[in-house]
Amino acid sequence: MFDLLIQNGQVIDGAKNPGFEADVAIQRDVIASVGKLEGAEAARVIDAGGKVVAPGFIDIHSHGDFTLAACPTADSLIHQGVTTAVVGQCGLSLAPLLDATRDEVTPSLDTRRMPIPWDKWSDFKSYLDFMKALGLSINIVPLVGQGTIRAGVMKFASIRATPDQMAAMQAEGVKALEAGAIGISTGLVYPPGSYASTEELIELTRPVGQRRGFYFSHIRGEGQFLTEAVAEAIRIGRETGAAVQISHLKAGWPNNWKKQARAVEMIEQARLEGLDVSADVYPYLAGSTSLKSGLPQWAQEGGKGVMLRRLTEPGTRQKIVEGMKKEGLFQDGAWDKILISHSTRRPDYAGRYVADMAAEAGKLPEEWVLDALVETELDPNMILFMISEANLKTALQNPAVMIGSDSSTIPTHGPLAEGVPHPRTFGTFPRVLARYVREEGVLSLEEAVHKMTGLSANKLRLSDRGLIKAGLKADLVVFDPKTIRDRATYEDPFHYPEGIFQVICNGIPVIADGQPTGARPGRVLAGG
Ligand code: ZN
Ligand code: CU
Repeated sequence: MFDLLIQNGQVIDGAKNPGFEADVAIQRDVIASVGKLEGAEAARVIDAGGKVVAPGFIDIHSHGDFTLAACPTADSLIHQGVTTAVVGQCGLSLAPLLDATRDEVTPSLDTRRMPIPWDKWSDFKSYLDFMKALGLSINIVPLVGQGTIRAGVMKFASIRATPDQMAAMQAEGVKALEAGAIGISTGLVYPPGSYASTEELIELTRPVGQRRGFYFSHIRGEGQFLTEAVAEAIRIGRETGAAVQISHLKAGWPNNWKKQARAVEMIEQARLEGLDVSADVYPYLAGSTSLKSGLPQWAQEGGKGVMLRRLTEPGTRQKIVEGMKKEGLFQDGAWDKILISHSTRRPDYAGRYVADMAAEAGKLPEEWVLDALVETELDPNMILFMISEANLKTALQNPAVMIGSDSSTIPTHGPLAEGVPHPRTFGTFPRVLARYVREEGVLSLEEAVHKMTGLSANKLRLSDRGLIKAGLKADLVVFDPKTIRDRATYEDPFHYPEGIFQVICNGIPVIADGQPTGARPGRVLAGG
């Protein structure tokens, strides 16, 4: 007698094998048997006739950690079929917090919409203990953020690390790895992580490589300097032995679109050389980040108070505007392609384009942005339509590219459903299966599922997940390949997808018959 039996489904096993009809039996948290299980009995039977049974999806790039404390049911993720998320990305993790600097560091991380219970942890171990005690509806795989470590040890100074500071940062990294982080992440456009030189990053990552850990990177440039930035990430992998993941691979803005091909080639060459280098994408033509990260690097120095002062000094403002035209996300001046997605202080800005709001206010767009940053104390997020669909398709087809949402996790209703967040929050995984498999035929269903499951599990060396195979953990999703689709749009993002019926995490349904069960069977899948 099994605990759960999923009958008559088309099993797509996550290893890119052709789908086959089979029953899947679950006993406790494990896949007990896969095959024609006629006569098998189970406490609960699910008929998956006409539907696909796949391994639970792995979100290889998630910022869910910023919202999980307030939303431990991870609604936007479980509704997409996600059962595991890799968190602590882009240099930003919620731990470690050092006693001497936590009061300065936590406000700098507190840019998202949800309250974070900062008083509940200090080092990485106590943070993971908090997450375990909280109980989540998904598994998480934690990374430690280099930006968080650097802020903790050196605050927000744009200076080189002294040997003592370097040793202190390395020690924090090692402590996090020993507590269960699988590696380190960087966000090399976000201060203060961006102040680190390549050599500093190599020093910090050395112990990661020695432990066969990971280096996940939001690289130093995703536009003008894309190829240099990819080269830096590969060099860090080569010199430290850490496995490299290039996060949300893209070439931002039309001027740079042609650079993606070279970036992909560099990844392929590194792989031929025997390095473990791969990447991930989200299936959208817009990116999203904080509005302030569009300012020149020097204008972001020193933390919030210093930045706000700079934005009100007339002479400095002029220099910032000039800098914005030369470097970074605003250099193309495509103000009609930049949408404000969220602002706690000016909720009325959300869902509107910078070009329109500037015209209404009778200001130049650059001036409008600076004024808005001052007025909101730097709080808005934005969406930038800067990605080429042809590039996205090529990236999706590359065998070293996985799927990641690059999003926090929130529900569609209630006080947490604020602003107009990027639709990737609700739609990433079903959108790949609907648009890029069923409609455009960019990938086969088996290939797409592989990029969401087996490929990512293999990268992460999660040997007990990511495939449908007897003996592995029972993380599963049942969906209809004919009807699955994302419903979140840029204008109206707060919609869960359609066509996903059962989501099972560690043997426990978190979505049953399309409805969340509230169960929180997720685990912290730690390295070390
Ligand atoms: Zn990022
Ligand atoms: Cu990210």
